[in-house]
Amino acid sequence: MKVRTGRSVKDYRAVWLDGSTVKMINQPLLPHFFRIASFKNHKETAKSISTMVVRGAPAIGATGAFGIAQATLEFRGTDMKKFRKHMSAAEKTLASTRPTAYDLFHGIKTVMDSIKNAKSVSEAQNTATATANSYADWSATNCRLIGEHGGKLIKRGSGVLTHCNAGALACVDHGTALAPIRWAHENKKNIHVFVDETRPRCQGARLTAWEMVMEGIPHSLISDNAAGHYMQRGEIDIVIVGADRVAANGDIANKIGTYEKAVVAKENGIPFYIAAPSSTIDFKCKSGMKIPIEERSQDEVLYMFGKPDGPLAMNTARVRVAPKETKARNPAFDVTPAKYIKGIITEKGVLKPSQIKNLKGLL
Ligand code: MRU
Repeated sequence: MKVRTGRSVKDYRAVWLDGSTVKMINQPLLPHFFRIASFKNHKETAKSISTMVVRGAPAIGATGAFGIAQATLEFRGTDMKKFRKHMSAAEKTLASTRPTAYDLFHGIKTVMDSIKNAKSVSEAQNTATATANSYADWSATNCRLIGEHGGKLIKRGSGVLTHCNAGALACVDHGTALAPIRWAHENKKNIHVFVDETRPRCQGARLTAWEMVMEGIPHSLISDNAAGHYMQRGEIDIVIVGADRVAANGDIANKIGTYEKAVVAKENGIPFYIAAPSSTIDFKCKSGMKIPIEERSQDEVLYMFGKPDGPLAMNTARVRVAPKETKARNPAFDVTPAKYIKGIITEKGVLKPSQIKNLKGLL
């Protein structure tokens, strides 16, 4: 993705491996500060996932893959029995960071599988590093293809609604839902993007809006409650969101609030699309109701986070919104049943939700 800071424009991926260090764009500081965070070992990298320094399904998938590669590189010695024990503990640590996004488990498994037959620690280290890097490249290519397939669904002059951040920041590059939007903009389709703010962590307001600014894509930030109004008034022609997990029956889990948008889109006859690479599909999960839904800290609802106005504010600040006695609940995702989904945009093309199970044979 292109990042403009002052007069310079530089290409970045959301996350990458530099030697044995995992580097990533520090997402909680955006849009106010652009910084790169570095994590020296797999335990630090695991924490970067659970604390959401990196977030978004394909991005945490690649981070999980890099974390496994890092764990191989951390190991000192040549004893394969001890090495296997170390790796299975590292796998557990990385896999227990967040429960919903399937890409995390896919990324971890891909690298773990690649070292199953390694005969020595050094062979495992080389293989794991190469596999994690090619996993990230594969993930970026898939998102680029999603952009090409999905971009063609967007008609000239459309209003496009998206929820959360399913952009380049949430992936290795390009994005899932934002890839078709980028493609449509590059192909001069004269689109306008409606960006849901996406309470409580405001990934729309903070991250999607930032990506739109970086790309110069016309957009309006709207409160989470406003999408139905603009659908009813005919200003939204298509909805494209990402997914954290796609079940075999075509149900999906995505950021909390997605389900409501899908229902209101159907009510208004507006096509509702999911953009997700094959790494997000959990073929073993029969339906959306079986997808584990992460419950996060109530503080994310009780407080808001931002940068105070004025040149002297050098840091972000947290402010409490609700009375001090009030408790909150905070599910991070919800499930949208397949019946509300017009199509799932994958790297292989646009599929009906009922066709998702057939993809298994094609991968
Ligand atoms: O809690 P987050 O910020 O990791 O959730 C991210 C989303 O829900 C995205 O929309 C999702 O990962 C879809 S595709 C990148």
